[in-house]
Parts: sequence; C-alpha cells; structure tokens
Amino acid sequence: MDAMNRRDFLRGTAAATAGLAMASKYSRMAFAQSAGARIEVLLDEPLGTISPNIYGHFTENLGGVIYDGIWVGEDSKVPNIRGIRKELVDEMRKTHPPIVRFPGGCFADSYDWRDGIGPVEKRPRRTNFWAGGERPDAPASHRYDPNRFGTNEFVQFCRLLGAQPYLAANLRSLPAEEFYRWVEYCNSPAGSTTLADERAAAGFKEPFKVRYWGVGNEAWGCGGNFTPQAYATEFRRYSTWVPGYNLELAFIGSGPDGGNWDWTRGFFEEMSRKGKDQLRSVYGWALHHYAWNLSRGKTQDWEKGKGDAVNFGPEDWYELLREGDRMESLIAGHWQIMGEFDPDHHVKLVVDEWGPWYRPGSELTPGDQLEQLPTLRDAVFSGMTLDTFNRHPEKVEVACCAQLINCLNSLYLAHEDKFCVTPVGHVFAMYAAHQNGQSLRSEFSAPAVHYDRDGKPASFWGLRGSASLRDKQLVITAVNASIKDALETQVVVRGARVSSGDATVLTATDIHARNTFEQRQAVAPKTEHVEITGDGLIFRFPAASVTKLALQLT
Ligand code: AHR
Repeated sequence: MDAMNRRDFLRGTAAATAGLAMASKYSRMAFAQSAGARIEVLLDEPLGTISPNIYGHFTENLGGVIYDGIWVGEDSKVPNIRGIRKELVDEMRKTHPPIVRFPGGCFADSYDWRDGIGPVEKRPRRTNFWAGGERPDAPASHRYDPNRFGTNEFVQFCRLLGAQPYLAANLRSLPAEEFYRWVEYCNSPAGSTTLADERAAAGFKEPFKVRYWGVGNEAWGCGGNFTPQAYATEFRRYSTWVPGYNLELAFIGSGPDGGNWDWTRGFFEEMSRKGKDQLRSVYGWALHHYAWNLSRGKTQDWEKGKGDAVNFGPEDWYELLREGDRMESLIAGHWQIMGEFDPDHHVKLVVDEWGPWYRPGSELTPGDQLEQLPTLRDAVFSGMTLDTFNRHPEKVEVACCAQLINCLNSLYLAHEDKFCVTPVGHVFAMYAAHQNGQSLRSEFSAPAVHYDRDGKPASFWGLRGSASLRDKQLVITAVNASIKDALETQVVVRGARVSSGDATVLTATDIHARNTFEQRQAVAPKTEHVEITGDGLIFRFPAASVTKLALQLT
C-alpha cells in the first residue's frame, strides 16, 4: 500500500453456504494422465525450517479487538479466565499460536505502558489513538482506553495460549528511557529492581522474559513521519545498551509499507554508514502489506480504491488475490536490498501486519472500527499468504496476521457472549501442521484462470501451495484460486513412498460464504482419508478451496 495514502488515512482517523460434498471429491481417479494439474514434492531439496512464528497474531487496542474481543472482565457473564474470553483461548489453542504482537499498530506510538500496570482502580483513562474514527454508538472503552488490559494481562493471555509476547514500543511520543524501563519491568529478576517489585505486587514475581520488541511502528507514517535515515538514528538510540537480563533481545525495526524500496534502502544504508556491525543489533525488519486496492488500476485513493468484504463479483475475487499475491515479490525485493548491506542476511523479515482491508459496512458488531466479515475469499487469501511464507523459510522469521479478532482479517469475531471462528481461523488451524517442518521445494503446475477485468482479458494462477516434512509426515497445503473449476491433480513425492493420508478441505458452494454468530459452522473444514496410488495420489482440489494433505511416508 502506498505510504502516502495510509498516512492521509491515519491522519484523518486520530450465504448462505452449502455443506461440502466431500466424499465424491476424494474418490481415487484411475488414470494419472487424466489429471489437469500436478504437484511434485522434492524431498531432497529442503529450503529450511519453517519458523513457527510465521503463524503469529496481532492484537491492537483498536475498536473491538481488546475490549469485548479479548478482554471481557472477571465479573462478566461471558465465560472467562481471569477476565480473558475463554472461548477465544480454547479456539486459539487449536492453532498452536506461537507469538502475539501488542499493543499496536499505530496505537503503540501513543501508548504509555505505565498506564496499564499497577492497581486496577488507579489506572488512568486515556484518549485512544483511534478515537477520531469511532462511531457515536461505539462503547466508551473503544474511545477512552480504561487501561484495564495492560502488560500483565497481555502476558497472562500469552501464557494461556503458550505463545511468546511481542511488544511494540512507543518511539514517537516517549523517550528511550521509558523503553528501557518497560524492558526492566518485564524482564528484571525477582526482587532486583523497584519495577520488579511492582511486577511482583501485581502477582508476577518471576520475570516475563519478553524477547521480541518492536522499536516503533510504521515510523514512515503514524509512528513519527520519519525519513528512513532519521529513523535509523532513533533505532540505534533506542536499541543500544538495553539491559538484556540474560535474554538475547530481538529488536524489530519498523520496515516498509508494501513496495517502498527506498525505506528499506535508506534504513540499511544509514545503519551501515555508522559501521557494518550496526546491523547486528537488528533482529528483524517489519514489512506491512495490506491488500486493499480493488479498483483494477483506476485509483490509488485509499478510500475510493477499497472493495466490499461480502458483496463482490468474480473479478473482485481475483483482484484481491492478485493484490495479496504481491507478497511474494515484496519478500524477494526487500530481501535483495537488505542483502546489499547485510550479505550474510543476519536480519530477517518480520511481516507483522498482513491481510485484506475492505471498506466499512460488513461489521457483525456495528460500531467496531475496522471490523470486517471474512468470507471464503479471505480464507483462500490467507492460505495463499501462509504458503508464500512457508516457501521462504530462510527469509521470513515472524509474521502476524492483522488482526486476531474483530478487526480486518480476523480469525475470530465476538461480541458480548457471541463468538464464531471465521474461515480465516480455520485456515490457521489447518496450517499449524507446518510449524517447525522442513520446507521442501515443490513444483505446482496447473492451468491459469482467465477472467474478465473491465472488458479486458486477465489471468491468475490456478493452483499454488507449499510442502513441509516433519519426521515421516509430509504436509502439503494448496489453494485452488479458480471459482469455477475443480482441479484433478497428480501428487508426486520424489524420494519416498506415501503409505496413507488424510485430506482436510475448506470450501463452500458460494464464494461469499462466511460464518456468523447465528451460523457458526457455515464454512468449516472436513477431513477424510485419501486413497494412495503408486508413489502418490490423484486429488481433486475443489474450486475456491484451501486444502491440507497430511501424508504418511515410508
Ligand atoms: O492494523 C491497522 C493499522 O494498520 C495499524 O495500526 C497500522 O500499523 C497499520 O497502518
């Protein structure tokens, strides 16, 4: 997304579904040569270990994400674990969440972490960064942050999930000293500092051991409107000599918006100008990419270019995937520039905000700012994006879907006692099997999909995915982007025999299919055995689907 557009935006804001006819689709096809597509997995071409952290999440104090989404309060009638929505924790555990980012986003650069610690009744109320975009019917807690959910509660949430906390520090409006103090509050040993005592008084004697720290967010825009050179100077200042408390802190720099190559080049150049070793202090470089422009090239206007989350035609389906598919070239492009200054690639990519961004209007809970209703299209988008990360294990170390709940590409939607898992949430549960697997080079070949783009012919690829191996279990995930045609596909594994396997498929007969509070299971994955033929199998990938093949090798 164009940085200028997002800056303007941020300034302004201070089916029905049918069940799956699975059984017949999984039936064995007798002749491999009748398959129209092919997947070839090359066991002897490993690409690297898939970092579990690419399956991470993003939780910003924005709209209904924290208050109502995650935090319902200890006295709530909604089942909760010390104030945290229980159903969310139960569902998230199924996806093995590795890492969660908090408190923003743009919110982070307006946040004073001290407001969110200490006795609850003494915590101040503050104007939320996003207050200007709130509708009059939104709850007060979305406009004026009650600070009920702060560092302690966030770490509790992460512990319930078994996930690592990833905190984004305020670089725009707090001095570096406050950053050091936040690290001290989280990580200094029991009894060692005044802040460790404060932490203990809140019930947390032992350190939180927070390793991942974002040094600002979107520093090119809401995080301070810096030039990359000025930001590099700030980055050095904030990250130099921060006490580690026996932990190797991982500092993540505020990276580019989409294809802003100048931002990456400017930062890396300026860091190296001070000395090559300076880049050793950077753990990750945060890339943000939102797929928002569905105007088919007509405008770059942030408001006018967006599409609708639930009312869309076939061309919008492909246009969204096309916008999201830019992720592959963004990873390659930024990686190449980073390598010019950091040839051994010490610094990894951290894609800590990704997802589709639609215009307002589809919210299940009216008044939830930036909430949108994910459909099957977003599930296919998410599968495609996670496959892209899987294919670049040496480059992408962390990724966080924007955002976890009640915002943008939500895995979950919730309001008061109502809750549902979105199609995106199901994709995360399916893809968890890749975590820590050895990514394998795999060739996907399938006919392209042709569609009409404002009267002109356009095309998009038909089938893509990724493969990984852990022990003797091979996991192949793939999306069939075509909304019309199922793909009869020959799956070949070079270097081993497949003894048995299961297929889990997420699809629906209506491309607009989605889950709501009333219809929680309208889109849900189905798992069945697959029949093995010879060295592999023939599998029919339904149109508009996300599939996981879990194959046992001998
Ligand atoms: O995810 C919503 C916003 O998008 C984040 O606060 C910001 O980092 C990005 O512009």
